[in-house]
Amino acid sequence: MAGPVQALEDRAVACADRLQSAERVLLASHIDADGLTSAGIAATALERAGIEFEVVFKKQLDDNEIATIAAREEETVLFTDFGSGQLDAIAAHEAAGDFTPVIADHHQPAESDTEYHLNPLLEGLDGASELSGAGASYVLARALEGEDVDNRDLARLAVVGAVGDMQAVGGELVGANREIVAEGVEAGVLEEGTDLAFYGKQTRPLPKLLEYASEVRIPGISNDGNGAIRFLDGLGLDLKRDGEWRRWVDLDHEERRTVASSLVQQALKKGVPADKVDGLVGTTYTLLAEPEGTELRDASEFSTLLNATARYERADVGLAVCLGDRADGLDRARKLLRNHRRNLSEGLQWVKETGVTQEENLQWFDAGEEIRETIVGIVAGMAVGVDGVDRNRPIVAFARNNDEETKVSARGTGRLVAQGLDLSAVMGEASEAVGGGGGGHDVAAGATVPTGREQEFVEVADEIVGDQLG
Ligand code: C5P
Ligand code: C5P
Ligand code: C5P
Ligand code: ZN
Repeated sequence: MAGPVQALEDRAVACADRLQSAERVLLASHIDADGLTSAGIAATALERAGIEFEVVFKKQLDDNEIATIAAREEETVLFTDFGSGQLDAIAAHEAAGDFTPVIADHHQPAESDTEYHLNPLLEGLDGASELSGAGASYVLARALEGEDVDNRDLARLAVVGAVGDMQAVGGELVGANREIVAEGVEAGVLEEGTDLAFYGKQTRPLPKLLEYASEVRIPGISNDGNGAIRFLDGLGLDLKRDGEWRRWVDLDHEERRTVASSLVQQALKKGVPADKVDGLVGTTYTLLAEPEGTELRDASEFSTLLNATARYERADVGLAVCLGDRADGLDRARKLLRNHRRNLSEGLQWVKETGVTQEENLQWFDAGEEIRETIVGIVAGMAVGVDGVDRNRPIVAFARNNDEETKVSARGTGRLVAQGLDLSAVMGEASEAVGGGGGGHDVAAGATVPTGREQEFVEVADEIVGDQLG
């Protein structure tokens, strides 16, 4: 067997063999786009391999959740998109004979290790940009291949997971992710292309596509509904059908070229720096089996649709969509998506109005109950670069939905990571200092802390960031 990621081959085969020998598997995964696609890939591969299983989703794999899993009957537990960071607790249960863990993850591993552990970081690959949880699950699925199925069609879900975890570097998937893209293209399920980098090319009417674009801000168009319409009206193209604005997917090649080059000109004219203007164009990943003009056709829109389900306690809906439900499941997901979009936009607005507090080395805001804790990290990421939020220091966000515990999300940039920033360590150490726990990636991490100790947490985190960057 020639898997997509050679470095992980032995680990994948060991994990696959262990699963093959299990009577029944409990599949546990994380509640975001990457976690859902991980579960979609693993569930499909287990099914095809004739292995019985059941799926559960967890917001956070803390000691309580691991104990709940341990109390269940299944003797084999497959963790996807989490598990590595919680290996101390998992290994303790393993030692007690509660279950055998099999892990396909990409988060920073804890001290303990275990026999069936598939994680890019264990082989020198970057878990924030080279392989996602869905990618790790895909590598496992390829090792689980049966007689007449090689599971390469699942590459499309692995790409949705990687894009959903924002693994693209300069608009493009790299490293092991690239190898997975290549397999998907070969299998005929994916197409890779260069196109406008804006979010919503499949589903947004053109004025909204331009108005809401946050990837590159163009004065007079971005955040300016009338400006976007004036710009489009001035192109001399027929951009409406039956009085309705067309979408990007509805345009032909020539029309797209005209709009894109006019956007570039407008950006340059308005003084957007040339390297930013380059960001107007990026790599897009198209799921060829999905109808044009739907969220499912584009990896980025697909991933947002999934976040809209799982982060609102409806992971079952997102998983159904991953597994091919294009009727009821898709309908429900779309309703949830409208709600998710409203929440993101209201959350971002709240941050803009309230502002952030600058410390020496980081900046933070406390959204209290204003922003749902499961999306406060997405909002923090989207806030970087808006007025009053510094691009050159990490952002830390708090939110809570009960009185005892407060959720923390932290986001950095590739540049800060290159300078030494490791938010996984910051979140882990600072939360432990105040009696909580956390982890994640160098560029994006999170924690839970006891409510009331946020200020103390900020002070410790600020100091650690200072040490890392100093
Ligand atoms: O659980 P976990 O791996 O899934 O979450 C990754 C998070 O990190 C996502 O919310 C993603 O948006 C964020 N991220 C980021 N910038 C990156 C890489 C990931 O904000 N360069
Ligand atoms: O929700 P998700 O984490 O997939 O969002 C990823 C990125 O997609 C956001 O950071 C944002 O830039 C973009 N997005 C958007 N409008 C939305 C949802 C997401 O521009 N309604
Ligand atoms: O929740 P958020 O999107 O901010 O999470 C960012 C990253 O931090 C994710 O990869 C998540 O799995 C990780 N995280 C963690 N422990 C926590 C909270 C988040 O490892 N308590
Ligand atoms: Zn992930």
